[in-house]
Amino acid sequence: MKLTALLLLFTLTLNAQKKTMTPDIHSYANSADVTVTHISLDLTADFEAKTLSGTATLDLKNLKKSSTLVLDTKGLSVEGVTLDGTSAAKYTIGEPHAIFGAPLTITITPKTKQVTVKYSTSPSAGALQWLEPSQTAGKTKPFLFTQSQAILARTWVPCMDGPGVRFTYSAVIRTRPDLVAVMSAAGNSGTKSAEGVYRFEMKQPIPSYLLALAVGDLEFRPLGPRSGVYAEPSVVEKGAYEFADLEKMIAAAEELYGPYRWERYDLLVLPPSFPFGGMENPRITFATPTILAGDRSLVALVAHELAHSWSGNLVTNATWNDFWLNEGFTVYFEHRIMEKVYGAPYAEMLSVLTLKDLRGTIEEMGAANPDTRLKLDLSGRDPDEGVTDIAYNKGYFFLRLCEETFGRPAWDDFLKKYFNDNAFHPMTTESFLAIFHKHFTDTAKKNAIGIDAWIYAPGLPANCPEPRSDEFTKVTAQIDAWNAGTPPSRLVTADWTTHHWLYFLRNLPAELRLEKVIELDYAFNFTRTGNAEIACEWFQRCIKSGYETAYGPMRNYLMNVGRRKLIKPLYTELVKTPTGLAWAKEVYAKARPGYHSVSTNTLDAIVK
Ligand code: BES
Ligand code: ZN
Repeated sequence: MKLTALLLLFTLTLNAQKKTMTPDIHSYANSADVTVTHISLDLTADFEAKTLSGTATLDLKNLKKSSTLVLDTKGLSVEGVTLDGTSAAKYTIGEPHAIFGAPLTITITPKTKQVTVKYSTSPSAGALQWLEPSQTAGKTKPFLFTQSQAILARTWVPCMDGPGVRFTYSAVIRTRPDLVAVMSAAGNSGTKSAEGVYRFEMKQPIPSYLLALAVGDLEFRPLGPRSGVYAEPSVVEKGAYEFADLEKMIAAAEELYGPYRWERYDLLVLPPSFPFGGMENPRITFATPTILAGDRSLVALVAHELAHSWSGNLVTNATWNDFWLNEGFTVYFEHRIMEKVYGAPYAEMLSVLTLKDLRGTIEEMGAANPDTRLKLDLSGRDPDEGVTDIAYNKGYFFLRLCEETFGRPAWDDFLKKYFNDNAFHPMTTESFLAIFHKHFTDTAKKNAIGIDAWIYAPGLPANCPEPRSDEFTKVTAQIDAWNAGTPPSRLVTADWTTHHWLYFLRNLPAELRLEKVIELDYAFNFTRTGNAEIACEWFQRCIKSGYETAYGPMRNYLMNVGRRKLIKPLYTELVKTPTGLAWAKEVYAKARPGYHSVSTNTLDAIVK
């Protein structure tokens, strides 16, 4: 008896150690030997030079009496390193790798408590986009924002740049006094400092990919006691209108899976070159202005980023191979928030669109493609290659199948406990599975799900849940009527929302003759829509049918919108014909300087 207990203890300790020692194939950091517990930044944002420069002081915990500290860097100019604020340290910077950057290896002693790195960033740092005034809404002041996920934090902070390492941070940001700085930390206020000096403190430990900074002509509007919106002055009212339901969403999220652990939840609406829809930077989600539809119809994105405050920011994918633990759980949670706030019919519309996207992605990638597995193998590759509908939507449907199998109450109890028990910790797919199997013991149910196939096999399992939407049945009826000859003006569309229209556009016959496209545009004025999602769907149709009227507005769209998800499908469709390719090249050459490197990295390969 005693011996088994001892053995159990031994295995438990071994497992606990294994957990913290998950190797991260995308980081050089020796975090299993020494770890970083706090980073203190003192950085000056120079808009002329397009650099951040100053110091990063890292507090260390030396677990293995290590005599070296290895940090990730990419394109940083390191001027010097000091130990414990006094003695100059020996350091070397390795050969730079195009994706991973270079290790900064610092000689330390087992007693070293702190290292300070004096450095500046490169003007082409991947995480930083320095915008000219012309790229902002106000057109008079420059703007800077960061995007650290997945492995770009190393382009602006020397750090252990993997999601398995967490630290607290504090920062002093020095900039022009006519600009406001905000960070993923406490200290945001939206009021200008006369000296242009801003101080921040993040007391909850975060992984490096959640380090975030933005500097620009920003104002703040409160939305509720613990929420509000930051944006340029000419955008902030629009933002406040669009996000009016934010407090309701936070309340719904807390009711589902436990207290919000980050105190405040604010949104920052960025200029249109922001390459993503949203980024879940703790305490301040960064968002694209393309969700400002004017009718609050694209706020699922807010629910998504808010959900990350649990799935991702609290329980964090240990490596980028486990990315589905961040995004799949977040899409699931997002849908639950949307259902709670806007009702099941709304949420089911989202689910139907999600499944259609997923099927399309798997068809494109090939059902045998190893990248259609939930657990990825991204060794030697940019983790950005793992950012597909698989992690998001296959992840969602796996979790939805679990819900349907165990029943919603049991599944919700599990998730609530999962977020609470593992808060502020990394999670591998394997540790998730261990927790799952310990909690759910009904083997018949688990076999019915086919858990390993869902997680480790490519393609979409046959038992994928099939959401149904009565709302979309109505849309299908109208599409059928149109196909049978009913003129567009006679279609019953009066109460349609953005999602009805998206479903309509996505489910039109694959090939449309030009006059059919003209007919639709005449009736519904899609070409002039102010809704960026609808425009993206519509323009794809226009390209396929050669509808020239749309090309002016489409050029405008491509020149202004930098969100990869919206512009990638347009360039992809354009390059399929020689004339389209020529047009795409011409527009891309003009638009490219305004795009973020995240977007050009993808688009360069398409428009070539
Ligand atoms: N964390 C992601 C964005 C991201 C992923 C950036 C991987 C870099 C690497 C964010 O939460 C996200 O998923 N954004 C989506 C929103 C959508 C699914 C509602 C986007 O940007 O489109
Ligand atoms: Zn996400």
